[in-house]
Amino acid sequence: MIYLITGSAGFVGSHLADKLISLGHRVIGIDNFDNFYAKNIKKHNILSAIKNPNFIFIEADITHQNELFDVFSKYNFDCVIHLAAKAGVRPSIKYPSEYFKVNVDGTVSILEAMKQFGVKKLINASSSSVYGNNPKVPFSETDSVDYPISPYAASKKAGELVCHTYHHLYGFDIFCLRFFTVYGPRQRPDLAIHKFTEKIINSQPIDVYGDGSTARDYTYIDDIIQGICLAIEKVKGYEIINIGESKTISLSKMISVIEEKLNKKAIVNRLPMQPGDVNLTNADISKAKQILGYNPIWKFEKGIEEFIKWKKND
Ligand SMILES: NC(=O)c1ccc[n+]([C@@H]2O[C@H](COP(=O)([O-])OP(=O)(O)OC[C@H]3O[C@@H](n4cnc5c(N)ncnc54)[C@H](O)[C@@H]3O)[C@@H](O)[C@H]2O)c1
Repeated sequence: MIYLITGSAGFVGSHLADKLISLGHRVIGIDNFDNFYAKNIKKHNILSAIKNPNFIFIEADITHQNELFDVFSKYNFDCVIHLAAKAGVRPSIKYPSEYFKVNVDGTVSILEAMKQFGVKKLINASSSSVYGNNPKVPFSETDSVDYPISPYAASKKAGELVCHTYHHLYGFDIFCLRFFTVYGPRQRPDLAIHKFTEKIINSQPIDVYGDGSTARDYTYIDDIIQGICLAIEKVKGYEIINIGESKTISLSKMISVIEEKLNKKAIVNRLPMQPGDVNLTNADISKAKQILGYNPIWKFEKGIEEFIKWKKND
């Protein structure tokens, strides 16, 4: 099979590229090395993939239709896995237009290129952020997501909506996967587990927002990749599917696991909750189990161990 991965130099995209080429598929990866975090980190992410002749990397911007059409004209993709995005909740409050440009207009450009070149299968990365401060736990795909609390969340919901439109108008098969906080080797440097680990190692204070009771459904990267690979195999019709662990870890617990694995105490700088941050995320994964046969297996403690091993050797 031949796949297009957008955002292939990022955290999730580079792992997916490694996985698909290890299974013998051809992968074309595009990324514009967006400046949200350093280009050299992203280049490092794809170091092993680019050694494989089944991986071709193209520096391209999903908001530039001509660049996309050029890529689509050269290859006959069986499926597109659309991961490219402006990620991060807090910066989206500062730069909302950029988030909508990439996450919404960029998604439309991908869908238009698919239409133009007859590609009909898409896996679209969405996010647990769309649930906002959902009062019902765990979060289910049938819950209302009409009340996003950050531009990032609104842009991800808008991405799901345009995907549905193309499914309806042109019969595309599309699964939108709502990832719940992803962690593991190559995790984005802006995410809390990564920032905290680095600061604790360097004996610097960590900024902790709120009293530590906020909680996340942290999902190990291998489980996310399992979910995406199953979705590629099974994509049919239009579905929104949660991909999480369905376990909730509080911020205090997350910090104490990192401390324990590093055998070092954090210096905590306690600050008020940040606007746009949600209190809790927790995935109902019964739909993923039923439709995909998804079965997440990573325990948080083990996942943190793997992350720290990578961080120390990186
Ligand atoms: N990591 C998480 O916890 C998480 C949670 C929920 C959803 N997601 C979603 O999963 C996807 C992957 O996230 P990630 O953590 O790997 O982020 P990432 O920032 O590491 O990867 C995204 C990649 O997209 C690229 N990109 C950005 N704008 C682009 C453009 N205009 N053209 C081409 N490439 C562009 C970036 O350079 C980056 O390499 C994103 O869609 C994100 O919204 C991630």
